[in-house]
Amino acid sequence: MNIAILGDGRLGGEIGVALGNRSGIRPLILGRPATGRHPVAALAGIELIFDASLGPSVRDNVEGALSAGVRRFVIATTAWSDDQPAVDASLRRAGASAVAAPNFSVAVNLFFRLVDTAVGLYGPIAAFDPYVLEWHHAAKSDRPSGTARELLRRIVAAHPRKRGVRDLDADGPADPELVEIAVLRAGAGPGMHLVGFDAPGETLELRLTARDRSAYAAGAVAAADWLTARPRVPGIHPFDEVVDDLLAVPVPVALPA
Ligand SMILES: NC(=O)c1ccc[n+]([C@@H]2O[C@H](COP(=O)([O-])OP(=O)(O)OC[C@H]3O[C@@H](n4cnc5c(N)ncnc54)[C@H](OP(=O)(O)O)[C@@H]3O)[C@@H](O)[C@H]2O)c1
Repeated sequence: MNIAILGDGRLGGEIGVALGNRSGIRPLILGRPATGRHPVAALAGIELIFDASLGPSVRDNVEGALSAGVRRFVIATTAWSDDQPAVDASLRRAGASAVAAPNFSVAVNLFFRLVDTAVGLYGPIAAFDPYVLEWHHAAKSDRPSGTARELLRRIVAAHPRKRGVRDLDADGPADPELVEIAVLRAGAGPGMHLVGFDAPGETLELRLTARDRSAYAAGAVAAADWLTARPRVPGIHPFDEVVDDLLAVPVPVALPA
């Protein structure tokens, strides 16, 4: 299969390594084009695209690739939510499918589900106040991360007393109706997310730390496999659908003799 990766940075490189390790595929890796869009000729014959660029580039990348005939996309880039309805509409018009997620780690997807459960258990107890903390390398441009935004969206959706997220720059004491988020940008870490519930006498914390980008790349490749396994409904699919299918495959368990 002819594959291109749009984005020649850290994640794009890691996806290239994952593809090469698995099947020897050598994808075309393209960096920022000189004009807004990748020329159609540069994407001729490409059957699947990984987008690992930067948020403002996603819409042009997808629409340019659709013009070149590409019909399958794995969109790993974050910070393009304002363009998501337009990208989804373009994909549907073209009969093309994408899997898009702010985080392609299967473990992070399961972490989302753990947090949903924790909000269901601790949310009704007034003493437990939820919060989110995330830490990424100094060069990360979006803050909070796409993953932290997804965690916050899920907490607010399920929590009985929280109706929104506190502005990062707000002064003053906490607002009991808003979830607090703290963002740290320093060093080289590829991503740490923590969700806590604090009460007067005790604290529960759920934390997931990435040591490298391999889990993101592995999940993005799994999403590509899912897209190519059979025709999918046009438009954007969440990574949850891929993870549900992965979990449905029975995993052999070695039992003690
Ligand atoms: N979903 C996930 O699991 C996951 C995991 C990690 C990161 N991410 C996200 O993935 C994105 C990339 O992360 P990263 O750490 O690899 O960032 P990065 O190291 O900054 O790399 C991004 C690269 O994309 C290039 N670029 C910009 N516009 C482009 C375009 N139209 N076509 C092709 N390349 C383009 C940039 O070029 P310039 O240097 O010229 O700007 C840069 O070299 C970010 O949005 C990040 O938040 C997602």
